[in-house]
Amino acid sequence: MKIENPAPIQWRFSERADQLQSSFIREILKITQQPEIISFAGGLPSPLTFPVDTMKAAFDKVLSENGKVALQYGPTDGYLPLRQWIADSLSANGAKIVPEQVLMTSGSQQALDLLGKVLIDEGSRVLVETPSYLGALQAFSVYRPEFKSVETDEHGLVPAWLDKVAAGARLLYALPNFQNPTGRSLSVERRVELVETCARLGLPLIEDDPYGALSYKGAPAPKMVAMNPDGVIYMGSFSKVLTPGIRLGYVVAPLPLVRRLELAKQAADLHTSQLTQMVVYDVIKDGFLDQHIPKIRTLYGDQCQVMLDAMAQHFPSAVQWTKPEGGMFIWVTLPKHIDAMKLLDEAIAQKVAFVPGSPFYANEPETNTLRLSFVTVPPERIRAGIEILGKLIAAKL
Ligand SMILES: Cc1ncc(COP(=O)(O)O)c(C=O)c1O
Repeated sequence: MKIENPAPIQWRFSERADQLQSSFIREILKITQQPEIISFAGGLPSPLTFPVDTMKAAFDKVLSENGKVALQYGPTDGYLPLRQWIADSLSANGAKIVPEQVLMTSGSQQALDLLGKVLIDEGSRVLVETPSYLGALQAFSVYRPEFKSVETDEHGLVPAWLDKVAAGARLLYALPNFQNPTGRSLSVERRVELVETCARLGLPLIEDDPYGALSYKGAPAPKMVAMNPDGVIYMGSFSKVLTPGIRLGYVVAPLPLVRRLELAKQAADLHTSQLTQMVVYDVIKDGFLDQHIPKIRTLYGDQCQVMLDAMAQHFPSAVQWTKPEGGMFIWVTLPKHIDAMKLLDEAIAQKVAFVPGSPFYANEPETNTLRLSFVTVPPERIRAGIEILGKLIAAKL
């Protein structure tokens, strides 16, 4: 039976809900998904790297052999063999990490939300890089912190800055490897200095590392969590090394913190899909990633080089850009008077898209910056898109 003439509801949203903002990137993705647009805007991994057949076989195997467990509710902290695998692979870096320190999450994005929930009160000081990952700013913003930006240069975050801003801070959020959005990495010396400085200041350090395995050449840099497992909170993800659609990430934290995170996760979603965790464990347990990740590195490394070469050919000399050695992004700094938001409108009119840099700044944005991703665009379209951008920029000089 349907009720007649219900009174219209005057929705009263919480103050928190009123502050929620859609990520700018998700908004422009709606435009850039049109196939005729050459989009350097997405932060999506290349679907060419998704191991569809391997995943299909693993789903089939897990469901045939262990379907009743896989389809049941599971523990909040996650599937133990997978947590053990993560603890062991991080322990190979020097530190002793135990599975009790590992909490599986629905993408590492959930880890950011949970960390915000248990560490940030309204007005808490939160230190972030300049610029920083937009999704982290968005996740932490819900808890209404006071963001303080920490200076970065071409070697990444500048640890000496912490003494100026760390007083009373709840945490420092850092992206040491092939940072989103700049593609920069923290030098090894800086990592040591950063961990030492945070330890001296008693400042919890979050090491968000979804791109660390995607180094084009050379071994991945040392992990900061291995230097001080009692003070560093490590975040990892299967999104960039396997597939993002499975929404599987994890956070590794000292025991008192991981217990709180687990309680927060229990309240949020009880647990991450047991089926997905069992499938991922089945895929990776015998070394699959050791053969798979080099293929991703080669594809991304080659496409990155195509973009860098095209930029060298088509961008005016007044433009600067980073030269990443891994990951998915290049960061461009235009002459000061060029506003990347306005440039985006002109670029979209010519069927090219990128992400303007402003949303990546917690405080004063540098409006003359932008982020380019090369991973989902084939080489000939990279060249064509960069040539168009180069002409648009040149016309503004
Ligand atoms: C730096 C960083 N952290 C976290 C995430 C979230 O990734 P996921 O939730 O897919 O693990 C992303 C996604 O692009 C990212 O770039």
